[in-house]
Amino acid sequence: MNAPAKTEEFAVKIPDGVYAETVLDVEHYTDRLFRFRMTRPAGFRFRSGEFAMIGLMVGDKPIYRAYSVASPAWDEELEFFSIKVPDGPLTSHLQKIQPGDIVLMRKKPTGTLVLDALTPGKRLYMFSTGTGIAPFASLIRDPETYEKFDEVILTHTCREVAELKYGFDLMEEIRNHEFLAEIVGDKLKHYPTVTREEFWHKGRITDLITSGKLFTDLGVPPLDPETDRGMICGSSDMLKDTKALLEKAGLTEGANSKPAEFVIERAFVG
Ligand code: A2P
Repeated sequence: MNAPAKTEEFAVKIPDGVYAETVLDVEHYTDRLFRFRMTRPAGFRFRSGEFAMIGLMVGDKPIYRAYSVASPAWDEELEFFSIKVPDGPLTSHLQKIQPGDIVLMRKKPTGTLVLDALTPGKRLYMFSTGTGIAPFASLIRDPETYEKFDEVILTHTCREVAELKYGFDLMEEIRNHEFLAEIVGDKLKHYPTVTREEFWHKGRITDLITSGKLFTDLGVPPLDPETDRGMICGSSDMLKDTKALLEKAGLTEGANSKPAEFVIERAFVG
């Protein structure tokens, strides 16, 4: 496909073999975070929790970065939650997109934060920091998550309170959604925490697991490989530290080819 972009003035060639989608909506949360929605190509299939390569033409060259799809697999549109890196090769441009602009997407999604990579369990923990909430934004809006688990706990840790807003908006959207509200019921628990400001839950999720405060606050027993499953998405250090705690509790890491008790994926930046 070699369709020109929106206007003659900015006409650019679209590379072959990728989708060229139209931005529908953009919401900025802080000077570091924003969300956008775009059209979904008819042929694009993905599993909730997977990521795709998202790109823009910068000059005459396409630049791509991995982005978790934040919308669920049933949604007619695609949503993404992004960091803004001032000098980021992609995000310095992507943060300026407006409705009507064209965003590129490679055709094949992939990823490990999928329900298929976990063995059956009772309680699903989703541990996220920063934009690591994105794959879970998809999974908490997918009815299949609630078919497979009795209880779903989404933890989201950010430096500042303002950075939690996307998570709060998701919870409100689910509560008010015409069919999700009933499917989700009271199975989904949101546990937001902040590390560099005052807030009702303070501290890194790793410290809250170690002290046991997470479980006391939620009124659930400590991590147990019999009942509990985990998904982790954050920075490399956060993945390493959280993974070590889950392993200490007796959970083993799984993958698409070998489902087990928890899975991890780096939250992407750039
Ligand atoms: P902190 O403020 O103590 O560094 P970032 O924006 O740097 O990706 O961080 C997002 C959140 O993840 C911050 O609240 C940060 O806490 C927390 N964090 C950073 N490193 C780790 C880690 N190794 N384990 C758990 N949480 C972490």
